[in-house]
Amino acid sequence: MDEILKAQLPYTLREADFPALGELYRGKVRDNYSRGDRIVMITSDRLSAFDRVLTTIPFKGEILNRLTVFWFDKTKDVAPNHILDVPDPSVLVVRRLQPLAVEMVVRGYLTGSLWRDYQAGKGAKAYGIDLPEGMRKDQRFEKPILTPSTKEQVGKHDEPVSPGELVSRGVIKRKQWEEMARISLDLFAAGQAWARERGLILVDTKYEFGVDGAGKLWVIDEIHTADSSRYWIAQGSEERTRRGEDQKMLDKEFFRQWLIRERNYKGEGPLPEIPDEVRAQLAGKYLELVQTLTGEAPRLVVGDTRARIQKALKARKYL
Ligand SMILES: Nc1ncnc2c1ncn2[C@@H]1O[C@H](COP(=O)(O)OP(=O)(O)O)[C@@H](O)[C@H]1O
Ligand SMILES: [Mg+2]
Repeated sequence: MDEILKAQLPYTLREADFPALGELYRGKVRDNYSRGDRIVMITSDRLSAFDRVLTTIPFKGEILNRLTVFWFDKTKDVAPNHILDVPDPSVLVVRRLQPLAVEMVVRGYLTGSLWRDYQAGKGAKAYGIDLPEGMRKDQRFEKPILTPSTKEQVGKHDEPVSPGELVSRGVIKRKQWEEMARISLDLFAAGQAWARERGLILVDTKYEFGVDGAGKLWVIDEIHTADSSRYWIAQGSEERTRRGEDQKMLDKEFFRQWLIRERNYKGEGPLPEIPDEVRAQLAGKYLELVQTLTGEAPRLVVGDTRARIQKALKARKYL
């Protein structure tokens, strides 16, 4: 499998470039073409960390999109989602909705940026939450907590925010907050339960929501992917927390820590150089995650990703 990941290094998809599909919104990871009430979302192989695009990873777009499809299918009874069609493993056609400018972050454990804030004495006050003192790194919360952030334009960092502020700033209505909070916690519970059965811990994640013309809420974007979530290997996790050891991760935190350790990079200054070896290694992490969660190895074919997508879009008459 390692060979396949390395062989794909020259063929990664940086940008989709299909102007005929409609109006382009290029996000950090996806190229989104809107027309009428649908969006064709092409998940590129771009890797972003600290809100910056740093490199591309072989098969990453395809793997993330497969995860989103898998999870949306699994949770379709928990909440309605935006998927209409999956013409290619890297592509979704979705219902175009009015996105609400908030990232609903759900956390089951004290780790990552929240742990960094907690250590710096900031706790979770920005989210309107009082955390108990004396918690350890990676310690589980009694109940998952919601730590929302505003969703900013490309190039700006997202900001922590409390539910009260979201409502007073007019980003969302109180009732919407309540429904989004309930759905987010339900989706997270469903995700954690399934991950557990597969030997993984869904540590934290973020959801996005959109509204249709009638005001109905839909789950949009991606769910429970390695870009939007943190996953740990369950076995031995509690012992590792007790001993203060690092968790075994199957997500992007591995890369964030590599950037901090090897490049002293935390999102500021010139873009760091990422060696091919690290790119292939990261692809392996993404692959391991999709394999473990879904219980099967995706059939990955080395070759030009853009050409494959183009063919699939033509076959389904989107192009
Ligand atoms: N169904 C939808 N309707 C409208 N916008 C959506 C929908 N699903 C996702 N989006 C938006 O499309 C974009 C997806 O691209 P992404 O690469 O994640 O961008 P970003 O860098 O803004 O997060 C996001 O801005 C997301 O909010
Ligand atoms: Mg996004």
